[in-house]
Amino acid sequence: MKLWGGRFTKPTNQLVEEFNASITFDQELVEEDIQGSLAHVEMLGKCDILSKEEVKQIISGLKRILQRVRQGEVKFSIENEDIHMNIEKLLIDEIGAIGGKLHTGRSRNDQVALDLHLYVRKQTVALIQLLIQLQEVLFLQAEKHIDTILPGYTHLQRAQPVRLAHHLLAYASMFERDIERLIDSYKRVNTCPLGAGAIAGTTFPIDRDFVAEQLGFERIYDNSMDAVSDRDYLIEFLSICSLIMTHLSRLSEELILWSSEEFAYIELDDAFCTGSSMMPQKKNPDIPELIRGKAGRVCGHLLALFMTLKALPLTYNKDMQEDKEGVFDTVKTCTSSVQLMSEVLKTMKVKPKRMKQNVEQGFANATDLADYLVKKGIPFRRAHEMVGKMVLYCIERGKYLLDCDLAELQSFAPQIEADIFIKLDPTFVVEARKSRGGTAKAQVEKTLAEKKARLLDY
Ligand code: ARG
Repeated sequence: MKLWGGRFTKPTNQLVEEFNASITFDQELVEEDIQGSLAHVEMLGKCDILSKEEVKQIISGLKRILQRVRQGEVKFSIENEDIHMNIEKLLIDEIGAIGGKLHTGRSRNDQVALDLHLYVRKQTVALIQLLIQLQEVLFLQAEKHIDTILPGYTHLQRAQPVRLAHHLLAYASMFERDIERLIDSYKRVNTCPLGAGAIAGTTFPIDRDFVAEQLGFERIYDNSMDAVSDRDYLIEFLSICSLIMTHLSRLSEELILWSSEEFAYIELDDAFCTGSSMMPQKKNPDIPELIRGKAGRVCGHLLALFMTLKALPLTYNKDMQEDKEGVFDTVKTCTSSVQLMSEVLKTMKVKPKRMKQNVEQGFANATDLADYLVKKGIPFRRAHEMVGKMVLYCIERGKYLLDCDLAELQSFAPQIEADIFIKLDPTFVVEARKSRGGTAKAQVEKTLAEKKARLLDY
């Protein structure tokens, strides 16, 4: 007999049982479900809706079930459809008919919303902690590589030299924003829907604020219909996770490029690479590749939930049961991706010599030559053209600007003096960008210090 079987005259079709049930995946919410029920029943007692004795029995029953769940002794069943009814059924089996009083003044609609809020709240905190660890690794590598210079790229063409620290801190800025997004979303996650009932509230004299306080919620939904139909916080969570994965996948892409023989800027640790079943020489960057690939999957979950919610009428509709698997998979994917990225970055070997070589064998100092001429009074557009001609001259002769002698350079721009050779040196070029947020050492160090300080505030 189903918990809702009163008005039914036929058993449920077997295909329907399986199609309809969510227990195979929503058992992920078992801790949250019991935690929520404990707070609910405390409130029922406090408001004299249930007697003290009933509350005592239900609480000890729920706690015993939780213990059995944790010991792996509980088997959930498809017949009981979802985690909510499975627990209620277990409770009734455990303490008898009194267990049936737990659901007084509550619906699965506000219950599932509560469970999801508790779950996403917990995962938001966990993800912030993992991002903080990732930041610490980025800071560590940045500190180590403040004087490591590599080409910075636009269009994947060598553009201007940068410090490796500066390059890594660009990612730290992205993850910093992700942490801020999670912190901002927290106040919406931390809103209690319980007490909304199925749609319209309840006729029992409940105390919603008491439940919210018990469960550590900052506030409660002020509209019962919104409370049971809102999934915005899930969209926000999936969207933040999609951004995190996008940032991780851009970083992954660079690690993959950099560890190729063509770049050879880094070597990933053996423990984080795999080999080929056929080619003995191969060492493949599978982990960054997988992170890059999994970004698509998380963005897919975001889009799937948008599609599910789009055009749903108020309030609860069974479509909403489809919200969970994508969220659970996102948590698993995003969590392991952030963790692994931290390890990959921590253990990678950087090859500063090779980076420097690529800076020197290029025209990453051409802008500096143009800027030099501007400082001699030449309009920038004219200086740009003059340097363009010098670059062309060098390319035709298979050399770089610093390979020219003073007379050669002066034949393009008589204003050039002997100090040009220092000013075109990569170290000088990087140090010359003293503007806020630029590549000069003092700027990079300032940014790093500020980021470190902010990290302590979270
Ligand atoms: N398993 C359902 C879900 O995940 C729980 C809520 C069911 N509510 C209902 N009225 N059928 O959405």
